[in-house]
Amino acid sequence: MTLSLVFAQVVTARALQMVANRPPKMKFRGAALALQSVRDGEVVISGPSETGKTIAALALVDRLARENPKLRGAIVRKMRVDMDATVLDIFKRHIQRPDVTVFGGSKPEWYEYPNGSILYVGGMDRPGRVLSGSLDLVYVNQAEELSLPDWETFTTRVTGRAGALQPGLMLGDCNPGPPTHWLKARPQIAMLESRHEDNPALYDDDGQIMEQGRRTMTVLDALTGVRKERLRFGRWVSAEGAVYAFDPALHLIDEMPLGWQNWRKVRAVDFGYTNPFVCQWWAIDPDGRMYLYREIYVSGRLVEDHAEQIKSLSMGEQIEYTVADHDAEDRATLERHGVTTLKAKKEIGVGIQAVEKRLAKAGDGRPRLFILRGATVEIDPALRDRHLPTSTLEEEDVYSWPKGADGKSLKEIPIDANNHGMDAKRYAVRSVDAGTGDDWGAVSGLGHVEEFKSKWQ
Ligand SMILES: Nc1ncnc2c1ncn2[C@@H]1O[C@H](COP(=O)(O)OP(=O)(O)O)[C@@H](O)[C@H]1O
Ligand SMILES: [Mg+2]
Repeated sequence: MTLSLVFAQVVTARALQMVANRPPKMKFRGAALALQSVRDGEVVISGPSETGKTIAALALVDRLARENPKLRGAIVRKMRVDMDATVLDIFKRHIQRPDVTVFGGSKPEWYEYPNGSILYVGGMDRPGRVLSGSLDLVYVNQAEELSLPDWETFTTRVTGRAGALQPGLMLGDCNPGPPTHWLKARPQIAMLESRHEDNPALYDDDGQIMEQGRRTMTVLDALTGVRKERLRFGRWVSAEGAVYAFDPALHLIDEMPLGWQNWRKVRAVDFGYTNPFVCQWWAIDPDGRMYLYREIYVSGRLVEDHAEQIKSLSMGEQIEYTVADHDAEDRATLERHGVTTLKAKKEIGVGIQAVEKRLAKAGDGRPRLFILRGATVEIDPALRDRHLPTSTLEEEDVYSWPKGADGKSLKEIPIDANNHGMDAKRYAVRSVDAGTGDDWGAVSGLGHVEEFKSKWQ
Protein backbone atom coordinates (compact mmCIF):
# COMPACT_ATOMS: atom_id res chain seq x y z
CA MET A 1 0.00 0.00 0.00
CA THR A 2 1.42 3.36 -0.93
CA LEU A 3 1.97 6.03 1.67
CA SER A 4 -0.54 8.37 0.05
CA LEU A 5 -3.23 5.71 0.14
CA VAL A 6 -2.63 5.13 3.85
CA PHE A 7 -2.75 8.89 4.36
CA ALA A 8 -5.99 9.14 2.41
CA GLN A 9 -7.48 6.35 4.52
CA VAL A 10 -6.48 8.01 7.77
CA VAL A 11 -7.94 11.32 6.62
CA THR A 12 -11.17 9.64 5.53
CA ALA A 13 -11.44 7.78 8.84
CA ARG A 14 -10.90 11.05 10.76
CA ALA A 15 -13.48 12.85 8.67
CA LEU A 16 -15.97 10.06 9.22
CA GLN A 17 -15.34 10.12 12.93
CA MET A 18 -15.81 13.87 13.11
CA VAL A 19 -19.12 13.53 11.36
CA ALA A 20 -20.11 10.68 13.65
CA ASN A 21 -19.17 12.65 16.76
CA ARG A 22 -20.98 15.80 15.78
CA PRO A 23 -23.91 16.45 18.09
CA PRO A 24 -27.12 15.29 16.41
CA LYS A 25 -29.04 18.07 14.73
CA MET A 26 -32.42 17.76 16.31
CA LYS A 27 -35.41 19.90 15.79
CA PHE A 28 -37.27 21.21 18.85
CA ARG A 29 -40.38 23.28 19.29
CA GLY A 30 -42.40 24.73 22.14
CA ALA A 31 -41.52 23.44 25.60
CA ALA A 32 -38.90 21.05 24.18
CA LEU A 33 -37.14 24.01 22.58
CA ALA A 34 -37.40 26.15 25.71
CA LEU A 35 -35.85 23.30 27.70
CA GLN A 36 -32.68 23.38 25.59
CA SER A 37 -31.56 26.71 27.08
CA VAL A 38 -32.15 25.70 30.71
CA ARG A 39 -28.90 25.58 32.72
CA ASP A 40 -29.84 25.58 36.41
CA GLY A 41 -32.59 25.19 38.98
CA GLU A 42 -35.37 22.62 39.06
CA VAL A 43 -37.13 22.25 35.74
CA VAL A 44 -39.73 19.67 34.73
CA ILE A 45 -41.24 19.18 31.31
CA SER A 46 -44.81 17.89 31.62
CA GLY A 47 -47.33 16.81 29.05
CA PRO A 48 -49.30 13.98 27.46
CA SER A 49 -47.65 10.90 25.94
CA GLU A 50 -45.28 11.20 22.99
CA THR A 51 -44.82 14.93 22.82
CA GLY A 52 -41.04 14.49 22.80
CA LYS A 53 -40.36 15.23 26.47
CA THR A 54 -37.84 12.46 27.01
CA ILE A 55 -35.91 13.16 23.80
CA ALA A 56 -35.75 16.85 24.67
CA ALA A 57 -34.47 16.14 28.17
CA LEU A 58 -31.88 13.65 26.93
CA ALA A 59 -30.70 16.03 24.20
CA LEU A 60 -30.08 18.68 26.85
CA VAL A 61 -28.26 16.23 29.13
CA ASP A 62 -26.07 15.12 26.21
CA ARG A 63 -25.32 18.70 25.22
CA LEU A 64 -24.32 19.70 28.75
CA ALA A 65 -22.10 16.63 29.05
CA ARG A 66 -20.33 17.70 25.85
CA GLU A 67 -20.06 21.38 26.73
CA ASN A 68 -18.75 20.85 30.27
CA PRO A 69 -15.69 18.60 30.54
CA LYS A 70 -15.69 16.24 33.53
CA LEU A 71 -19.35 16.83 34.22
CA ARG A 72 -20.96 14.33 36.60
CA GLY A 73 -24.57 13.66 35.70
CA ALA A 74 -27.19 11.02 36.35
CA ILE A 75 -30.14 9.62 34.44
CA VAL A 76 -32.56 8.12 36.94
CA ARG A 77 -36.04 6.72 37.38
CA LYS A 78 -37.98 5.22 40.27
CA MET A 79 -37.27 1.64 39.20
CA ARG A 80 -34.07 0.69 37.39
CA VAL A 81 -35.82 -2.16 35.48
CA ASP A 82 -38.17 0.30 33.81
CA MET A 83 -35.30 2.18 32.16
CA ASP A 84 -33.84 -0.14 29.52
CA ALA A 85 -36.86 -0.35 27.23
CA THR A 86 -37.78 3.31 27.66
CA VAL A 87 -35.45 6.20 28.42
CA LEU A 88 -32.18 4.33 27.74
CA ASP A 89 -33.56 2.96 24.48
CA ILE A 90 -34.42 6.49 23.37
CA PHE A 91 -30.93 7.63 24.39
CA LYS A 92 -29.40 4.86 22.31
CA ARG A 93 -31.56 5.39 19.24
CA HIS A 94 -31.74 9.19 19.09
CA ILE A 95 -28.98 10.79 21.14
CA GLN A 96 -25.96 8.58 21.73
CA ARG A 97 -23.05 9.20 19.33
CA PRO A 98 -20.33 6.60 18.64
CA ASP A 99 -17.76 8.51 20.71
CA VAL A 100 -19.70 7.72 23.89
CA THR A 101 -18.53 4.60 25.73
CA VAL A 102 -21.20 2.53 27.45
CA PHE A 103 -20.28 0.61 30.61
CA GLY A 104 -22.49 -2.27 31.65
CA GLY A 105 -23.40 -3.64 28.21
CA SER A 106 -27.09 -4.02 27.47
CA LYS A 107 -27.99 -2.74 30.94
CA PRO A 108 -25.90 0.44 31.02
CA GLU A 109 -24.41 1.57 34.33
CA TRP A 110 -22.78 4.71 32.99
CA TYR A 111 -21.88 6.57 29.82
CA GLU A 112 -18.47 8.14 29.37
CA TYR A 113 -17.68 11.03 27.03
CA PRO A 114 -14.25 11.75 25.44
CA ASN A 115 -14.02 14.97 27.51
CA GLY A 116 -14.26 13.02 30.76
CA SER A 117 -17.93 13.70 31.40
CA ILE A 118 -19.88 10.81 32.90
CA LEU A 119 -23.59 10.11 33.06
CA TYR A 120 -24.51 7.49 35.66
CA VAL A 121 -27.65 5.38 35.38
CA GLY A 122 -29.73 4.18 38.32
CA GLY A 123 -33.11 3.74 39.94
CA MET A 124 -34.22 4.72 43.42
CA ASP A 125 -34.28 0.96 44.05
CA ARG A 126 -30.85 0.31 42.56
CA PRO A 127 -28.91 3.57 42.67
CA GLY A 128 -25.56 2.07 41.58
CA ARG A 129 -23.04 4.94 41.45
CA VAL A 130 -25.73 7.57 41.06
CA LEU A 131 -25.64 8.41 44.76
CA SER A 132 -21.91 8.03 45.31
CA GLY A 133 -20.94 11.71 45.19
CA SER A 134 -21.85 15.25 44.19
CA LEU A 135 -23.55 15.76 40.88
CA ASP A 136 -23.78 18.61 38.40
CA LEU A 137 -26.94 17.39 36.82
CA VAL A 138 -29.72 14.89 37.43
CA TYR A 139 -32.40 14.00 34.94
CA VAL A 140 -35.37 12.12 36.39
CA ASN A 141 -37.40 10.24 33.81
CA GLN A 142 -41.13 9.97 34.73
CA ALA A 143 -40.64 12.19 37.76
CA GLU A 144 -44.28 11.70 38.80
CA GLU A 145 -43.30 8.22 40.01
CA LEU A 146 -40.95 9.67 42.63
CA SER A 147 -41.95 10.75 46.10
CA LEU A 148 -40.90 14.20 47.28
CA PRO A 149 -38.20 12.67 49.54
CA ASP A 150 -36.89 10.77 46.48
CA TRP A 151 -36.63 14.04 44.55
CA GLU A 152 -34.93 15.75 47.49
CA THR A 153 -32.38 12.94 47.66
CA PHE A 154 -31.08 14.41 44.42
CA THR A 155 -31.55 18.11 45.10
CA THR A 156 -29.14 17.74 48.04
CA ARG A 157 -26.54 16.31 45.68
CA VAL A 158 -26.97 18.77 42.84
CA THR A 159 -25.47 21.77 44.52
CA GLY A 160 -22.78 22.86 42.12
CA ARG A 161 -20.16 21.30 44.38
CA ALA A 162 -19.35 18.84 41.60
CA GLY A 163 -17.95 21.90 39.86
CA ALA A 164 -18.57 21.40 36.16
CA LEU A 165 -21.95 23.09 36.09
CA GLN A 166 -22.72 25.95 38.46
CA PRO A 167 -25.00 25.86 40.37
CA GLY A 168 -26.31 22.53 39.09
CA LEU A 169 -29.45 21.36 37.33
CA MET A 170 -32.33 19.15 38.45
CA LEU A 171 -34.27 18.10 35.41
CA GLY A 172 -37.38 15.95 35.08
CA ASP A 173 -39.98 14.83 32.62
CA CYS A 174 -43.42 13.60 33.57
CA ASN A 175 -46.90 12.70 32.52
CA PRO A 176 -49.61 14.45 34.51
CA GLY A 177 -50.96 12.83 37.66
CA PRO A 178 -53.52 13.96 40.23
CA PRO A 179 -53.73 17.75 40.79
CA THR A 180 -52.56 17.25 44.37
CA HIS A 181 -49.23 15.78 43.25
CA TRP A 182 -46.14 17.25 44.98
CA LEU A 183 -44.67 18.13 41.58
CA LYS A 184 -47.44 20.68 41.14
CA ALA A 185 -47.04 22.05 44.64
CA ARG A 186 -43.26 22.44 44.85
CA PRO A 187 -42.52 26.14 44.40
CA GLN A 188 -38.91 25.60 43.27
CA ILE A 189 -40.01 23.70 40.17
CA ALA A 190 -40.48 25.53 36.89
CA MET A 191 -42.95 23.45 34.89
CA LEU A 192 -42.85 23.51 31.08
CA GLU A 193 -45.96 22.26 29.30
CA SER A 194 -45.30 20.30 26.13
CA ARG A 195 -47.87 19.46 23.47
CA HIS A 196 -48.13 17.00 20.58
CA GLU A 197 -47.66 19.81 18.07
CA ASP A 198 -44.14 20.20 19.52
CA ASN A 199 -43.13 16.75 18.29
CA PRO A 200 -41.62 16.97 14.78
CA ALA A 201 -42.32 13.28 14.22
CA LEU A 202 -46.06 13.93 14.60
CA TYR A 203 -46.59 17.43 13.17
CA ASP A 204 -44.73 19.26 10.38
CA ASP A 205 -43.39 22.80 10.64
CA ASP A 206 -46.72 24.22 9.45
CA GLY A 207 -48.59 22.48 12.26
CA GLN A 208 -50.09 19.88 9.90
CA ILE A 209 -50.49 16.44 11.36
CA MET A 210 -48.42 13.73 9.61
CA GLU A 211 -48.96 10.00 9.14
CA GLN A 212 -47.21 9.04 12.39
CA GLY A 213 -49.17 11.76 14.16
CA ARG A 214 -52.46 10.27 13.00
CA ARG A 215 -51.44 6.84 14.23
CA THR A 216 -50.38 8.16 17.63
CA MET A 217 -53.49 10.27 18.10
CA THR A 218 -55.75 7.33 17.15
CA VAL A 219 -54.18 5.28 19.94
CA LEU A 220 -54.48 8.12 22.46
CA ASP A 221 -58.05 8.96 21.42
CA ALA A 222 -59.01 5.36 22.21
CA LEU A 223 -58.08 5.77 25.87
CA THR A 224 -60.79 6.38 28.44
CA GLY A 225 -61.34 8.26 31.67
CA VAL A 226 -58.52 9.79 33.63
CA ARG A 227 -55.91 8.05 31.52
CA LYS A 228 -57.19 9.85 28.46
CA GLU A 229 -57.30 13.18 30.32
CA ARG A 230 -53.66 12.78 31.33
CA LEU A 231 -52.03 10.96 28.41
CA ARG A 232 -54.05 12.43 25.53
CA PHE A 233 -54.69 15.96 26.84
CA GLY A 234 -51.95 16.40 29.43
CA ARG A 235 -54.29 17.46 32.23
CA TRP A 236 -53.50 17.09 35.92
CA VAL A 237 -56.74 15.49 37.05
CA SER A 238 -57.99 12.82 39.44
CA ALA A 239 -60.23 10.01 38.35
CA GLU A 240 -63.80 11.15 38.70
CA GLY A 241 -65.72 8.37 40.33
CA ALA A 242 -62.71 6.19 41.05
CA VAL A 243 -63.88 2.90 42.55
CA TYR A 244 -61.06 2.53 45.04
CA ALA A 245 -59.41 5.09 47.28
CA PHE A 246 -55.98 3.68 46.51
CA ASP A 247 -53.36 5.95 48.01
CA PRO A 248 -49.77 5.29 46.97
CA ALA A 249 -48.51 6.85 50.20
CA LEU A 250 -50.50 4.28 52.16
CA HIS A 251 -50.87 1.20 49.99
CA LEU A 252 -47.76 1.15 47.82
CA ILE A 253 -44.61 -0.22 49.43
CA ASP A 254 -41.04 -0.28 48.13
CA GLU A 255 -39.99 -3.43 49.97
CA MET A 256 -41.67 -6.46 51.46
CA PRO A 257 -41.68 -6.58 55.28
CA LEU A 258 -39.12 -8.84 56.93
CA GLY A 259 -40.02 -12.49 57.11
CA TRP A 260 -42.60 -12.42 54.34
CA GLN A 261 -41.09 -15.49 52.72
CA ASN A 262 -42.61 -17.58 55.49
CA TRP A 263 -46.12 -16.17 55.26
CA ARG A 264 -49.13 -17.87 53.70
CA LYS A 265 -49.33 -17.38 49.94
CA VAL A 266 -52.17 -17.58 47.44
CA ARG A 267 -52.58 -16.77 43.78
CA ALA A 268 -55.42 -15.21 41.79
CA VAL A 269 -55.95 -15.40 38.04
CA ASP A 270 -57.99 -13.36 35.57
CA PHE A 271 -57.88 -14.80 32.06
CA GLY A 272 -57.23 -12.75 28.96
CA TYR A 273 -55.56 -12.89 25.58
CA THR A 274 -56.36 -9.64 23.78
CA ASN A 275 -56.77 -8.14 27.22
CA PRO A 276 -53.99 -8.95 29.64
CA PHE A 277 -53.88 -12.26 31.45
CA VAL A 278 -53.23 -11.55 35.12
CA CYS A 279 -51.81 -13.88 37.74
CA GLN A 280 -51.20 -12.31 41.15
CA TRP A 281 -49.19 -13.72 44.03
CA TRP A 282 -50.36 -12.55 47.45
CA ALA A 283 -48.56 -13.04 50.75
CA ILE A 284 -50.63 -12.80 53.93
CA ASP A 285 -49.00 -11.68 57.16
CA PRO A 286 -49.89 -13.20 60.54
CA ASP A 287 -52.42 -10.37 61.09
CA GLY A 288 -54.17 -11.10 57.82
CA ARG A 289 -52.81 -8.15 55.81
CA MET A 290 -52.45 -8.96 52.13
CA TYR A 291 -49.43 -8.02 50.02
CA LEU A 292 -49.33 -8.30 46.23
CA TYR A 293 -45.69 -9.26 45.82
CA ARG A 294 -45.59 -10.57 42.27
CA GLU A 295 -47.75 -10.59 39.16
CA ILE A 296 -47.87 -11.58 35.53
CA TYR A 297 -49.72 -8.91 33.52
CA VAL A 298 -49.33 -9.79 29.86
CA SER A 299 -51.49 -9.82 26.72
CA GLY A 300 -51.21 -12.02 23.62
CA ARG A 301 -49.81 -15.12 25.28
CA LEU A 302 -51.26 -18.65 25.48
CA VAL A 303 -52.56 -20.06 28.76
CA GLU A 304 -50.18 -23.04 28.59
CA ASP A 305 -47.24 -20.65 28.40
CA HIS A 306 -48.58 -18.74 31.37
CA ALA A 307 -48.85 -22.04 33.26
CA GLU A 308 -45.15 -22.76 32.71
CA GLN A 309 -44.18 -19.28 33.86
CA ILE A 310 -46.46 -19.47 36.90
CA LYS A 311 -44.82 -22.72 37.94
CA SER A 312 -41.28 -21.49 37.45
CA LEU A 313 -41.91 -18.21 39.27
CA SER A 314 -43.49 -20.11 42.18
CA MET A 315 -40.52 -22.46 42.51
CA GLY A 316 -39.59 -22.95 46.14
CA GLU A 317 -42.78 -21.28 47.40
CA GLN A 318 -45.72 -23.03 48.94
CA ILE A 319 -48.91 -21.71 47.38
CA GLU A 320 -52.03 -22.69 49.35
CA TYR A 321 -54.39 -22.38 46.42
CA THR A 322 -55.11 -20.43 43.26
CA VAL A 323 -58.48 -18.78 42.60
CA ALA A 324 -59.45 -18.04 39.02
CA ASP A 325 -62.08 -16.62 36.78
CA HIS A 326 -64.52 -19.32 35.63
CA ASP A 327 -63.61 -19.86 31.98
CA ALA A 328 -63.80 -23.67 31.79
CA GLU A 329 -61.38 -24.14 28.93
CA ASP A 330 -58.74 -21.85 30.35
CA ARG A 331 -59.00 -23.43 33.78
CA ALA A 332 -58.68 -26.87 32.19
CA THR A 333 -55.58 -25.75 30.31
CA LEU A 334 -53.97 -24.47 33.50
CA GLU A 335 -54.90 -27.72 35.25
CA ARG A 336 -53.41 -29.84 32.43
CA HIS A 337 -50.17 -27.91 32.83
CA GLY A 338 -50.04 -28.37 36.56
CA VAL A 339 -51.80 -25.26 37.92
CA THR A 340 -55.00 -26.31 39.69
CA THR A 341 -57.49 -23.52 40.34
CA LEU A 342 -60.57 -22.91 42.47
CA LYS A 343 -63.50 -20.99 41.04
CA ALA A 344 -63.39 -17.42 42.31
CA LYS A 345 -66.29 -15.77 44.10
CA LYS A 346 -67.14 -13.21 41.46
CA GLU A 347 -70.03 -11.03 42.68
CA ILE A 348 -68.82 -7.54 41.91
CA GLY A 349 -70.61 -5.55 44.62
CA VAL A 350 -69.63 -7.75 47.53
CA GLY A 351 -66.10 -8.07 46.19
CA ILE A 352 -65.62 -4.32 45.85
CA GLN A 353 -66.86 -3.80 49.39
CA ALA A 354 -64.42 -6.41 50.66
CA VAL A 355 -61.52 -4.68 48.90
CA GLU A 356 -62.64 -1.24 50.16
CA LYS A 357 -62.72 -2.57 53.68
CA ARG A 358 -59.10 -3.70 53.36
CA LEU A 359 -57.98 -0.39 51.83
CA ALA A 360 -59.43 1.55 54.77
CA LYS A 361 -57.13 2.13 57.75
CA ALA A 362 -57.70 -0.41 60.50
CA GLY A 363 -57.52 0.33 64.23
CA ASP A 364 -53.71 0.29 64.07
CA GLY A 365 -53.74 3.08 61.49
CA ARG A 366 -52.68 0.78 58.67
CA PRO A 367 -54.67 -0.63 55.78
CA ARG A 368 -54.89 -4.37 55.18
CA LEU A 369 -53.91 -4.48 51.53
CA PHE A 370 -50.64 -3.46 49.92
CA ILE A 371 -48.96 -3.56 46.54
CA LEU A 372 -45.21 -3.99 46.24
CA ARG A 373 -43.78 -1.56 43.72
CA GLY A 374 -42.20 -3.42 40.83
CA ALA A 375 -44.23 -6.57 41.52
CA THR A 376 -44.99 -6.96 37.81
CA VAL A 377 -42.43 -9.40 36.43
CA GLU A 378 -42.36 -7.94 32.92
CA ILE A 379 -43.90 -4.91 31.29
CA ASP A 380 -45.87 -5.91 28.19
CA PRO A 381 -44.65 -3.70 25.31
CA ALA A 382 -47.93 -4.19 23.40
CA LEU A 383 -49.89 -2.69 26.29
CA ARG A 384 -47.32 0.03 26.84
CA ASP A 385 -47.40 1.06 23.17
CA ARG A 386 -51.18 1.40 23.43
CA HIS A 387 -50.74 3.42 26.64
CA LEU A 388 -52.94 0.95 28.50
CA PRO A 389 -52.23 0.02 32.13
CA THR A 390 -49.30 -2.42 32.33
CA SER A 391 -49.91 -3.56 35.91
CA THR A 392 -52.53 -3.87 38.62
CA LEU A 393 -51.02 -0.76 40.20
CA GLU A 394 -51.69 1.29 37.07
CA GLU A 395 -55.34 0.21 37.09
CA GLU A 396 -55.88 1.44 40.65
CA ASP A 397 -56.64 5.08 39.98
CA VAL A 398 -58.36 4.65 36.62
CA TYR A 399 -60.87 1.92 37.50
CA SER A 400 -64.06 3.93 37.82
CA TRP A 401 -67.84 4.09 38.01
CA PRO A 402 -69.87 5.18 35.00
CA LYS A 403 -71.65 8.51 35.09
CA GLY A 404 -75.42 8.84 35.09
CA ALA A 405 -77.39 11.40 33.08
CA ASP A 406 -77.06 13.85 35.98
CA GLY A 407 -73.27 13.60 35.81
CA LYS A 408 -73.04 11.74 39.12
CA SER A 409 -71.32 8.38 39.46
CA LEU A 410 -73.56 5.33 39.19
CA LYS A 411 -72.15 3.11 41.88
CA GLU A 412 -73.47 -0.23 40.73
CA ILE A 413 -71.12 -1.75 38.21
CA PRO A 414 -67.80 -0.10 37.33
CA ILE A 415 -66.91 0.67 33.74
CA ASP A 416 -65.78 -2.54 32.10
CA ALA A 417 -62.23 -1.38 31.37
CA ASN A 418 -58.89 -1.30 33.16
CA ASN A 419 -60.19 -4.04 35.42
CA HIS A 420 -58.04 -7.11 34.84
CA GLY A 421 -55.84 -6.74 37.88
CA MET A 422 -58.85 -5.29 39.73
CA ASP A 423 -60.81 -8.51 39.14
CA ALA A 424 -57.96 -10.79 40.19
CA LYS A 425 -57.46 -8.69 43.31
CA ARG A 426 -61.14 -9.03 44.18
CA TYR A 427 -60.94 -12.82 43.77
CA ALA A 428 -57.89 -12.94 46.03
CA VAL A 429 -59.50 -10.78 48.71
CA ARG A 430 -62.76 -12.76 48.74
CA SER A 431 -60.86 -16.02 49.08
CA VAL A 432 -58.63 -14.80 51.89
CA ASP A 433 -61.53 -13.18 53.73
CA ALA A 434 -63.34 -16.51 53.50
CA GLY A 435 -60.82 -17.91 55.91
CA THR A 436 -61.20 -15.10 58.41
CA GLY A 437 -64.90 -15.57 59.03
CA ASP A 438 -65.57 -12.16 57.54
CA ASP A 439 -67.18 -13.61 54.51
CA TRP A 440 -67.74 -17.36 54.54
CA GLY A 441 -68.44 -17.73 58.23
CA ALA A 442 -68.54 -21.50 58.19
CA VAL A 443 -65.01 -21.94 56.90
CA SER A 444 -62.56 -21.68 59.71
CA GLY A 445 -58.99 -21.00 58.78
CA LEU A 446 -57.42 -21.72 55.47
CA GLY A 447 -55.29 -24.44 56.96
CA HIS A 448 -58.32 -26.59 56.18
CA VAL A 449 -57.96 -26.22 52.49
CA GLU A 450 -59.94 -29.34 51.72
CA GLU A 451 -62.94 -28.17 53.70
CA PHE A 452 -62.50 -24.77 52.13
CA LYS A 453 -62.46 -26.25 48.64
CA SER A 454 -65.58 -28.28 49.18
CA LYS A 455 -67.49 -25.22 50.38
CA TRP A 456 -66.14 -23.30 47.49
CA GLN A 457 -66.91 -25.35 44.43
N1 LIG B 1 -37.32 16.45 18.59
C1 LIG B 1 -37.57 15.27 18.04
N2 LIG B 1 -36.91 14.86 16.94
C2 LIG B 1 -37.16 13.66 16.38
N3 LIG B 1 -38.07 12.78 16.84
C3 LIG B 1 -38.78 13.11 17.92
C4 LIG B 1 -38.56 14.37 18.58
N4 LIG B 1 -39.39 14.43 19.63
C5 LIG B 1 -40.08 13.27 19.63
N5 LIG B 1 -39.73 12.48 18.60
C6 LIG B 1 -40.29 11.15 18.26
O1 LIG B 1 -41.42 10.94 19.11
C7 LIG B 1 -41.26 9.78 19.93
C8 LIG B 1 -41.75 10.08 21.33
O2 LIG B 1 -40.84 10.96 21.97
P1 LIG B 1 -40.59 10.89 23.54
O3 LIG B 1 -39.51 11.83 23.85
O4 LIG B 1 -40.41 9.48 23.94
O5 LIG B 1 -42.02 11.40 24.04
P2 LIG B 1 -42.56 11.57 25.54
O6 LIG B 1 -41.40 11.44 26.45
O7 LIG B 1 -43.16 12.93 25.53
O8 LIG B 1 -43.59 10.50 25.70
C9 LIG B 1 -39.78 9.46 19.86
O9 LIG B 1 -39.53 8.08 19.98
C10 LIG B 1 -39.36 9.99 18.50
O10 LIG B 1 -39.61 9.02 17.52
MG1 LIG C 1 -41.10 9.97 27.98
